[in-house]
Amino acid sequence: MHAGQRSKVPRNVNMENLRGGYLFPEIAMRELEHARKYPHAKLIRLGIGDTTEPIPHIITSAMAEQALALSTVRGYRGYGDEQGNQELRMAIARAMYKDMGVKWEEVFVSDGAQCDISRVQMLLGSRVTVAVPDPSFPAYVDSSIILGQAGKFEEETRKHQNIVYMRCYPDNNFFPDLENTPRTDIIFFCSPNNPTGAAATRSQLEQLVEFARANGSIIVHDSAYSAYISDGSPRSIFEIPGAKEVAIEISSFSKFAGFTGVRLGWTVVPEELSYSNGFPAIKDFNRIVCTCFNGASNIAQAGGLACLSPDGRQALNKVIEFYRDNAMILVDAFESLGIKAYGGKNSPYAWVHFPGSSSWDVFDDILEKTHIVTVPGVGFGPGGEEYLRVSAFGNRETMLEASKRLKTLYNHFK
Ligand SMILES: Cc1ncc(COP(=O)(O)O)c(C=O)c1O
Repeated sequence: MHAGQRSKVPRNVNMENLRGGYLFPEIAMRELEHARKYPHAKLIRLGIGDTTEPIPHIITSAMAEQALALSTVRGYRGYGDEQGNQELRMAIARAMYKDMGVKWEEVFVSDGAQCDISRVQMLLGSRVTVAVPDPSFPAYVDSSIILGQAGKFEEETRKHQNIVYMRCYPDNNFFPDLENTPRTDIIFFCSPNNPTGAAATRSQLEQLVEFARANGSIIVHDSAYSAYISDGSPRSIFEIPGAKEVAIEISSFSKFAGFTGVRLGWTVVPEELSYSNGFPAIKDFNRIVCTCFNGASNIAQAGGLACLSPDGRQALNKVIEFYRDNAMILVDAFESLGIKAYGGKNSPYAWVHFPGSSSWDVFDDILEKTHIVTVPGVGFGPGGEEYLRVSAFGNRETMLEASKRLKTLYNHFK
């Protein structure tokens, strides 16, 4: 093959339906242009939701110990169980699903929630119909497109064909209007939601489970931010009676333990969940995991176990509280300017409303005036228009500086 020669392989048509300029590359490009224009400005990055605080020592030392053991004859381990180490699966079932009837055999350890969203999509296949919260984490829609569940993007509505967008906004307390939501096979749901920061109340989750049961749908519940819940809202869909027949839950150590780089998560597929022909979904998921995944890193899993020990959890709670306090600093800064901001209480994000404005315009405006990088809400779906997501992952100094700039510079130019 010489340079410029093309293969004879047609491009996957589903990939052609994905939108080009994906959110974060576009943000990075605008950030770069800004840095060229203001080479001396000190940029504050409150865009991408990546953790910043060091992982507590009790957890990293467990990982170090496991890593060093690999250099010994006694401690060396090769492949582990594809579903994860039994000890960790048992610890997750005990620590995260106490009194919910989740068995350790229903817990599948993974290398993170993002990968599991795609594995669950592979499990469900391309023929199912799908609903997503609007706005929501883009991986639900993008993986639906890649699988072929969803069609082309329509510029007018800013929606992909064959996806039901369940609008979540202040008027409905960021919870979908289920009475007017058409039936779909699959309902993606995320609580606390990224980006809105809204945690569904018990009664809202009961409605969702009831809706799925009445329609014979499957809920794919993403609880990646459940550790941030501070107001008593359920941390798992399985707190709701009847959820085990209609829900899968995907979760992560990323935002809970700063494992965004370490990579560890899990998915619960209950034994009670079955397809229309009565076949148990857990058997198919086990097959997917064995085929497409060979188990999470044993070093990461040792870290996961330490996270779930009483001392590990105590240390992590402090970090989570720290991020939540950061988020409240941001929420308060916007509110002091008379700009309505949501989130913070149950999440590491502020979701800020600029009625009547395009979210990319507000993004540009704030970048220009304060040198702060945020995320335009429309990147999370059409329902994110008029909003910005501002991440509270960062040190305290950064949050205070961002808050100061917003209060002085932004207010001054407003
Ligand atoms: C809602 C939600 N789910 C899943 C993920 C991915 O998590 P992980 O790092 O475990 O892949 C993210 C990451 O930002 C997220 O916001």
